[in-house]
Amino acid sequence: MNPTPPLPTNLDRAAELLARGGLVAFPTETVYGLGAHALDPAAVARIFAVKQRPRTSPLIVHVPDLASARSLVRTWPDPAERLATALWPGPLTLVLPRNRDLPQLLTGGGDWLGVRIPSHPVALALLRRAGVPVAAPSANRFMQLSPTTADHVRSGLGDAVDAIVDGGPCTVGIESTVVALYPDGPTLLRPGGIPRHVLEHLLGQTLQSGAAPQPGQAHDAPGMHPRHYSPRTRTLVALPDVPLPAGRGAIVSHRTQAFDAGAGVQRIPMPSHAQDYARMLYATLHDLDSRGLDWIGLDLPPDEADWQALRDRMHRAAAD
Ligand code: TXA
Ligand code: MG
Repeated sequence: MNPTPPLPTNLDRAAELLARGGLVAFPTETVYGLGAHALDPAAVARIFAVKQRPRTSPLIVHVPDLASARSLVRTWPDPAERLATALWPGPLTLVLPRNRDLPQLLTGGGDWLGVRIPSHPVALALLRRAGVPVAAPSANRFMQLSPTTADHVRSGLGDAVDAIVDGGPCTVGIESTVVALYPDGPTLLRPGGIPRHVLEHLLGQTLQSGAAPQPGQAHDAPGMHPRHYSPRTRTLVALPDVPLPAGRGAIVSHRTQAFDAGAGVQRIPMPSHAQDYARMLYATLHDLDSRGLDWIGLDLPPDEADWQALRDRMHRAAAD
């Protein structure tokens, strides 16, 4: 374990801003969140405006403890108890039937609410001080790359937020795993920081897979848009046997030998371990996106259990 760093100096002010309806970007272990008082409809509406996010996309509500999580939902089935006990605080979001007195906008008008207890010490300290549940999507504009540093938030959202709390680089680096506890069985809506096999082991059953949204329908999982988490630079899946595009490009790869990179093509070495890779993925893409390249090539990691969330994000980053 790393030693616990000192808390940011603007934490009290950020907590007060949140409690009074302000917009505060803050670190979690997964990615930075764009937070607002979850019970204040006007504050929640500002999240959608700043992100330019469709109002049908539900938000995740962040709380510091189990009692607060349970107070937001109407049922707490056994699978919720098992997963929460084992994995919270941590990169898991549970989707459960919402309490009816919450703002409609939180759930995109639907009956299901996503809740999570983040493990980042700064997030927990902020949530405790704010004393209110905090709705927070990733702190980026709709469809763009999620931020894993305070600088990413600053360059993406800048003045649109009232405060940015800097808690250093995120340690998980990709978003939480989202599991809905539907009556017909636990359903994986978004792969993420906790691998599927860990959840299935804890539950003693197989997770169903959430359906991708149909065009024009209110969807279960906005993160399941085929194109999402994308750099602005043209991004593609690079395959060893397929010629690379012309121009200046970079290949992001976990292996040394796979590509015969020609002139003007840079190889960006990545870790060969999934957790280390995840911590670096978005930061690497943010950096490459700022270099004015003609393209970014993603060399997909192996189709194995520990790599599923990363493969998902890379496919989405590369989707047209
Ligand atoms: O790691 C994370 O989850 C980060 C940090 C800030 O906590 N948050 C995040 O939020 O990624 P956002 O809004 O960018 O992504 C929300 C995801 C959607 O892709 C969707 O799968 C799921 O959460 N979600 C949230 N509420 C839901 C609901 N009521 N029903 C179905 N899915 C929901
Ligand atoms: Mg997001």
